[in-house]
Amino acid sequence: MTRTSPPNTDQSAESNDWVDPAPSPLLLLLGSSSDTESERGVDCPGTLPSPSDPGLAARAQAAKDALGDRVFVLGHHYQRDEVVEFADVTGDSFKLAREAAARPEAEFIVFCGVHFMAESADILTSDEQAVILPDLAAGCSMADMAAIDQVRDAWRTLEAAGIADQTLPVTYMNSSAAIKAFTGEHGGTVCTSSNAATSLRWAFDTAEHVLFLPDQHLGRNTAVGDLGLSPHDCVVFDPRKPGGGLTHDELRAAKMILWRGHCSVHGRFTPECVDDVRARIPGVNVIVHPECKREVVEKADFVGSTEGIIKALEAAEPGSAWAIGTELNLVKRLAGQHPDKRVVFLDKTVCYCSTMNRIDLPHFTWALESLVAGNVVNQIEVDPQTAYWARVALDRMLALPGG
Ligand code: 13P
Ligand code: SF4
Repeated sequence: MTRTSPPNTDQSAESNDWVDPAPSPLLLLLGSSSDTESERGVDCPGTLPSPSDPGLAARAQAAKDALGDRVFVLGHHYQRDEVVEFADVTGDSFKLAREAAARPEAEFIVFCGVHFMAESADILTSDEQAVILPDLAAGCSMADMAAIDQVRDAWRTLEAAGIADQTLPVTYMNSSAAIKAFTGEHGGTVCTSSNAATSLRWAFDTAEHVLFLPDQHLGRNTAVGDLGLSPHDCVVFDPRKPGGGLTHDELRAAKMILWRGHCSVHGRFTPECVDDVRARIPGVNVIVHPECKREVVEKADFVGSTEGIIKALEAAEPGSAWAIGTELNLVKRLAGQHPDKRVVFLDKTVCYCSTMNRIDLPHFTWALESLVAGNVVNQIEVDPQTAYWARVALDRMLALPGG
């Protein structure tokens, strides 16, 4: 977690020019259907228990007990309480990737999170272990904003501009295995919201330019807020426009080439939300996730990954007030865990991550009961060639200081 720079009254050019990117062209899978263009891809079959079954939690517990040490359950901080209750460990995407890699004895890793996280867990675990995502519709709209063919096209544009050999790709964990593999093959690394600054510094040690995928906000917030680059060192590459919508001169002049992707959940927070909460709660501390827009981060007091936000609340003085700009399941949980502090959601409107919320108690119970019955359902398997190069990129990240 870092304190943000003082509010910038001289609004940066990219802030004034901000236009919401077009939504993902991909369909949101709602149940059993298939979308091979997306980073999640395949069917979610099966008959689920009813959510109104009063014995559901007991069924989930009985299945977990029956599996014993054969199963290890990972839960991302954005998961529902009803699921987090069963997690052997909770964490942000970085911590969960490391936890998955550290459990060679578990036959089954049940990943309560989203598809790209389960793919990373599959890449970091052995062939003898199965990684299970209880609902395959739990994708990530941000990850879907960068398709591998678009990224290959973008690289050809950098080649045509004469800068590909001076550019390293850095991809946020929130990307498909194919994009992580592309990154690994081209000398780059994965990053998460908790190590983005370290990853970028590592990249700029050897490269003139970074192609940052797929979240432009994390890229810009890290480059400007942590590395001290100017907003004018950053350009936005729009994969829907020829040449990314940039001239070769613009590409050559840029240090950070930001992919035009964003998180639809964190994109909802606005500078007005910050003004509003400060007017309502004098002295409130505003803390936001780095997936928020730059102008929101500039108005906040602190910026931090999900783990960073949790640690900030743990260290906070009793009686202090906190407005948190991240997913609502986590904010609600923090409010419950810190009754001695005032914890509020930064937006006035309810804002869950709809895909994280796909993992619910019926899907979780169904996945565990299927394992007890000997059926491995919803296994996430990355093909060996993709897994090899994606692992190269993930291992580079894990080898960075603090990794
Ligand atoms: P963390 O890296 O902080 O876990 O965030 C993942 C994510 O999906 C945030 O939207
Ligand atoms: Fe993706 Fe945003 Fe949901 Fe995180 S909160 S999983 S980035 S859509």
